[in-house]
Amino acid sequence: MDLHYFLSWKVSLLLLLVPCGLQCMSVHIVNQEPVHVIPGQQLLLKARIEHGPLEEVSSVTWEWEAETGITQERVTLATCPGRSLKCAGIRPNVHVNIGEQETTLEINGYNAADGGLYTLTVTDHRGAKTSAQCIVREYEEVHHVSVSINVSHSTLVCGEAWGTDPHFSWLHERAAITNSVGRVSKDGITLLVTKTPICGHFTCMVSNKLGHSSATYTAAPCEAEGRGTTAAVVCPILLLLVGGVLAFVLWRRHRHSNRGERLHEHLDDTI
Ligand SMILES: *[C@@H]1O[C@H](CO)[C@@H](O)[C@H](O)[C@H]1NC(C)=O
Repeated sequence: MDLHYFLSWKVSLLLLLVPCGLQCMSVHIVNQEPVHVIPGQQLLLKARIEHGPLEEVSSVTWEWEAETGITQERVTLATCPGRSLKCAGIRPNVHVNIGEQETTLEINGYNAADGGLYTLTVTDHRGAKTSAQCIVREYEEVHHVSVSINVSHSTLVCGEAWGTDPHFSWLHERAAITNSVGRVSKDGITLLVTKTPICGHFTCMVSNKLGHSSATYTAAPCEAEGRGTTAAVVCPILLLLVGGVLAFVLWRRHRHSNRGERLHEHLDDTI
């Protein structure tokens, strides 16, 4: 077999094994959806472009549209011819970069109106288009924390309205929850109270990158248990004391009367 023939056979076999063959461009946005951006900070969307060895990117377009609403109009943020490394968008704070296998969209000074559905469209050298989409929302601070009790299940449930990525934690009388007080569920939302009766202050604290907020459930004061233990310790001591005094008094009386008897006996003898 001649070498050239062998090589071309091998190359075509390889191309068959490549899932997309020669003509199959794919794009996907790397960011985890939905992307949350803190107002005033930078929105950075990254996308990977994969294409066959004979394909070429001829242009990249990023578009925006509102996530909901009546007018589903797409606004073009930037259209860039392939291979140009950097290209400006329609606004001075919008920048698009294009690399060998990736493209990024940057929006500096993000504001609430930038939230929505972003669409990336990549066009290959033959004019075939491939798209990927991504939802972008504003990163919101923690709102309206509340604690409710589920009496039948001895659980306290922490609620939070619409903050982004809330993290829950619990305190009892301003201290971390110990095993003698209860157990916190994996997601942190529920506290199963093992302490009976349920007493004291239970605080749920919800936090995210922008701050924290808390709410407290107040049960009956916990002093009852304190008094109980004091009574349990003090009572036996008192009983012992009283018993001891009584025993002493009895013992003294007994000794006196014995002495009296002996005195009588002595007197009798001498008489
Ligand atoms: C209490 O919790 C249980 C278990 O999670 C649930 O099935 C029940 O509906 C809850 N009761 C109330 C009043 O929320």
